[in-house]
Amino acid sequence: MSASSHTRGHEHSKDYARALLSWLESSGTRVVNGRSVIDLEVSKVEQHRALAKAGFDVPRTAAVFGRSDLKQKAREFEAPFITKHNQGGKGLGVRRFDSHAEFDSHVDSPLFEESPDGITLIQEYLAAAEPFVTRVEFVGGRYVYAVRVDISGGSFELCPADVCAVDLDAAPPATATPPFSLRPGFDNDPLIARYERLLAATGVEIAGIEFIETTDGRRVTYDINTNTNYNPDVEAASAVSGPREIARFLGALLDEQNAAELRSTRLQAYPA
Ligand SMILES: Nc1ncnc2c1ncn2[C@@H]1O[C@H](COP(=O)(O)OP(=O)(O)O)[C@@H](O)[C@H]1O
Ligand SMILES: [Mg+2]
Repeated sequence: MSASSHTRGHEHSKDYARALLSWLESSGTRVVNGRSVIDLEVSKVEQHRALAKAGFDVPRTAAVFGRSDLKQKAREFEAPFITKHNQGGKGLGVRRFDSHAEFDSHVDSPLFEESPDGITLIQEYLAAAEPFVTRVEFVGGRYVYAVRVDISGGSFELCPADVCAVDLDAAPPATATPPFSLRPGFDNDPLIARYERLLAATGVEIAGIEFIETTDGRRVTYDINTNTNYNPDVEAASAVSGPREIARFLGALLDEQNAAELRSTRLQAYPA
């Protein structure tokens, strides 16, 4: 289930996923990133609440319902500020505004696009100390690696999957830094254990969590992706592999399940 599935013609996937996972879980099936995780995936409000509750530094954010209050609410934010779709992913609706006048005319223009749930976030703009954000990957609730995502190009569409690398035939500029690289020296960072506790508390088993280091020394967490993608450049550079960790994690769950089934078959054959 991807939060941006509606952009690929799957408007009802969110509700299909909710119904399917509720049904599976009520029948006792073990689900990875289960029913409650869908609600987190498709709502940045839910992510913000979970992060704030766990004590993380989060961007100051307002969630605005519909379009009519947007301009007024934005007055509570100094420019520059950011807007986002509540149900986002791949940078949907993420835009920076440098003045309220610019925002007002955007809201009134045909370019304005609403989130599929009608909720738009207005958020303080976080100025990065260096031009990158960090995406920390977890499988089975445990840290895998951290990815350095270059933002010097100014784009907010930072999907790491190879299918998102559009215009594959265009030659990259000679000086270009690869947009995704392994972030060295992160393996003992204190944020890792805090993220692992957050994932345990919210029942999330596979995730990529994004944070930004600001010019004023804050480390601000702003995105929890429970449907993550692994970048081929990062995978090539890392000793551990995201997909391999997922295969191991799911394999271990299957082994557990098979062992439990075997025990119950034996009990039926040779009751105590
Ligand atoms: N408050 C912010 N200030 C500055 N840049 C931001 C802010 N929020 C997000 N961004 C940038 O926009 C990108 C996309 O935003 P994000 O919240 O991760 O949405 P999505 O779920 O669509 O990936 C981020 O990776 C980051 O580079
Ligand atoms: Mg993101």
